[in-house]
Amino acid sequence: MTKRVAILLSGSGSNMVSLVDSMTGDHPARACLVMSNNHDAGGLQKAADRGVDTAVVDHRPYGEDRAAFEDVLHARLIEARPDILCLAGFMRVLTEGFVSRWQGRMLNIHPSLLPKYRGLNTHARALDAGDTSAGCTVHEVTPALDDGPILGQAQVPIHPDDTPQSLAARVLEQEHILYPAVLRQFAEGNRQMIALP
Ligand code: GAR
Repeated sequence: MTKRVAILLSGSGSNMVSLVDSMTGDHPARACLVMSNNHDAGGLQKAADRGVDTAVVDHRPYGEDRAAFEDVLHARLIEARPDILCLAGFMRVLTEGFVSRWQGRMLNIHPSLLPKYRGLNTHARALDAGDTSAGCTVHEVTPALDDGPILGQAQVPIHPDDTPQSLAARVLEQEHILYPAVLRQFAEGNRQMIALP
């Protein structure tokens, strides 16, 4: 049976686009909802343009009460009946309570070669450390930040004249290849790690 995939994002949604566009033909999954915590997220229009339902649950009215925000997010997700939840540039840290409701069904993409550089500013940190390669990771989401079982990684070289922006652009190209590849396997029930290139 075709799997239903909900995607959470906060920004431009280029990873969401790569996921939605990959789910065609004999792909075992289809997008059922794209949801954001941010009304201004560019990804919402891109999802609507692709005929995918969209929703917004703004985190701001809930202030520090992350659980209250997540309860509303969860309720909207339940309406869409997803089998798989993909975080794609969703820039809110999720509580253990939310994660436990979706654990085993929730994926995230992170712009570093985990376990290196959990959290923010990954590209600047890789450059500051003098690393010669960087990359991205798709992993299952567990309560600890950027720490779940790794399902795929893609590496890129770091060039001597790289800036955080130039490196981010090179990594993002790989994100758009890696995340759809992992999602497809995951939807088929296969958790074998993918290493690119
Ligand atoms: C991507 O680079 C993704 O890896 C990163 O945000 C960007 C979203 O871009 N995610 C994180 O940093 C999560 N901690 P997009 O909106 O164009 O897909």
